[in-house]
Amino acid sequence: MSKRVNRVALIGTGFVGSSYAFAMLNQGVTEELVLIDLNKEKSEGDAMDLNHGLPFAPSPTSIWYGDYSDCRDADIVVICAGANQKPGETRLDLVEKNTKIFKSIVDQVMNNGFDGIFLVATNPVDILTYAVWKYSGLPKERVIGSGTILDTARFRYLLGDYFQVDSRNVHGYIIGEHGDTELPVWSHADIAGKTIADWVKKKEQYKQEDLDQLFLNVRDAAYHIIERKGATYYGIAMGLVRLTKAILQNENSVLTVSAYLDGKYGQSDVYIGVPAIVNRKGIRDVIELHLNQDEQEKFTHSAEVLKKTMKPFFS
Ligand code: 2OP
Repeated sequence: MSKRVNRVALIGTGFVGSSYAFAMLNQGVTEELVLIDLNKEKSEGDAMDLNHGLPFAPSPTSIWYGDYSDCRDADIVVICAGANQKPGETRLDLVEKNTKIFKSIVDQVMNNGFDGIFLVATNPVDILTYAVWKYSGLPKERVIGSGTILDTARFRYLLGDYFQVDSRNVHGYIIGEHGDTELPVWSHADIAGKTIADWVKKKEQYKQEDLDQLFLNVRDAAYHIIERKGATYYGIAMGLVRLTKAILQNENSVLTVSAYLDGKYGQSDVYIGVPAIVNRKGIRDVIELHLNQDEQEKFTHSAEVLKKTMKPFFS
């Protein structure tokens, strides 16, 4: 029997969703890409526009604007729909509005017989990933949030820039809430096997204060971008494509996603950003890093903030 083609259904074609669709097309990740949005005209226009890029794409993709019935045969449903932060708002401020929107989206996807993997990007992403898991009834492995995938990319980019090394050779993780309580795992950050502390020791020009500021720039990056252009979308879109590839190509890649914890890191019943192995079945395994005491305390605090914020919605 020949293998059925891969289908990704995208719900929400705002800035993040349409940037994701564009990046998907450019990287030739799936054979079918369905665009679903409340604003049909917008998703129809996006489908037309993207189709006109096909002659320049690395491989063919069927792209069309569709509806929830197209989710039945989807391998992945990506949700980018919902309200986004206005200048001065935190991600957690969006919880009430977006949990309501998500209930209706997930019900419609599931009522159409979806049985694949959910990928969630809308903020507050950790809480909304939990919401999708609850509302869908799918196994926890098949509900994945973008978590700190973007924060980790920002961290690697800024470290690469600071030490003048290709960011793809910088290894390190941002974990915890995708938001104000996230933390860097300095104890496991390295470039070419040398710890960041070793790199700092090597030259006088490198300073610990710079690294402390670098993390603040990672944590507050979204605020800095939103102040300037009203929204963030290219970085997260590319992170979502990376995750989509890891799933569809059964990569077993290690990515910092929002995953359900069931005892690891001393936490349970919460979705939060941690490194995890991602493949065709979703999250194969959560990697439990050996955190130092300070890191563990910060992680616990981050998980507690998430639990407290979501409690009124899921008790
Ligand atoms: C970001 O970090 C706003 O969550 C979005 O860019």
